[in-house]
Amino acid sequence: MARTAPSRDRSRLLYKAAYALRRPGRVPRYARRSLRDAMLRARYGRDHVAYYRAVMASDSERSAESAVGGPTSSREAWLRIGKWQYEYLLAHGLKPADRLLEIGCGNLRAGWRLMRYLEPGHYYGIDISPHILLSAKDTVVRYGLQDRLPHLTLTDNLSFDFLPADHFTVIHAHSVFSHTPLEVIEECFEHVGRILAPGGFFDLTFDRTEGREHHVLREDFYYRTETLAALAARHGLSAELMADWEAMPHGQSKLRIRADR
Ligand SMILES: C[S@@+](CC[C@H](N)C(=O)[O-])C[C@H]1O[C@@H](n2cnc3c(N)ncnc32)[C@H](O)[C@@H]1O
Repeated sequence: MARTAPSRDRSRLLYKAAYALRRPGRVPRYARRSLRDAMLRARYGRDHVAYYRAVMASDSERSAESAVGGPTSSREAWLRIGKWQYEYLLAHGLKPADRLLEIGCGNLRAGWRLMRYLEPGHYYGIDISPHILLSAKDTVVRYGLQDRLPHLTLTDNLSFDFLPADHFTVIHAHSVFSHTPLEVIEECFEHVGRILAPGGFFDLTFDRTEGREHHVLREDFYYRTETLAALAARHGLSAELMADWEAMPHGQSKLRIRADR
């Protein structure tokens, strides 16, 4: 049985005031983040990819772990959350011969385990952030995975136009669409069916709400399952909320997308 997603709206003033009272120590950090995000939004306007790329550049200056895991993230959390992702795919039948695309691969929290398991050349990671891809390259070196011949590619959209049709048996996006507006998800849904191999699946996590859909600082987005499922259906895709992932302590939900053909 899927856990019940919160219906609270984190963008409301009342929620923010109550949060500040509960955790006063976090107020200065939130204020700094709001100021930075306002400056970046003024600079990049509605170009979300350029905006979020700048957020990642700024966060990466502190540490790559906090850029992918949030300001309080640690090395232990980096390892733990990557392991959850990896073990979940394994439990769902991932085989070394699978060809896997990771959208928003970050600095390979899960990617280093995936490329170690998959046949050489079968891991493909894409990301919008050059800063985090440099850190991904360091992860490959740190774990001695050069012979796995991973592909790591910078992208500025999710049209996948440089990738072959019917190719990837598994596509994975963890904690990526929790940071994107709906138009970015729609672009992905419009094109992902072309690159999915017949019978393949695409797992993505998202911040689920059962209340009003909203975002906080255009960094964290909260969607209803039905919204994403309807969007998928518009592009000939089916969507299933993964009940076994709901049991994980990770706060996000997971949707499995398949191409109906
Ligand atoms: C919170 S991190 C998670 C990284 C990785 N999936 C993990 O679990 O460690 C989000 C990543 O998605 C990337 N990203 C955000 N929007 C993206 C987009 N539209 N296309 C590709 N990557 C994106 C960010 O640059 C960042 O590396």
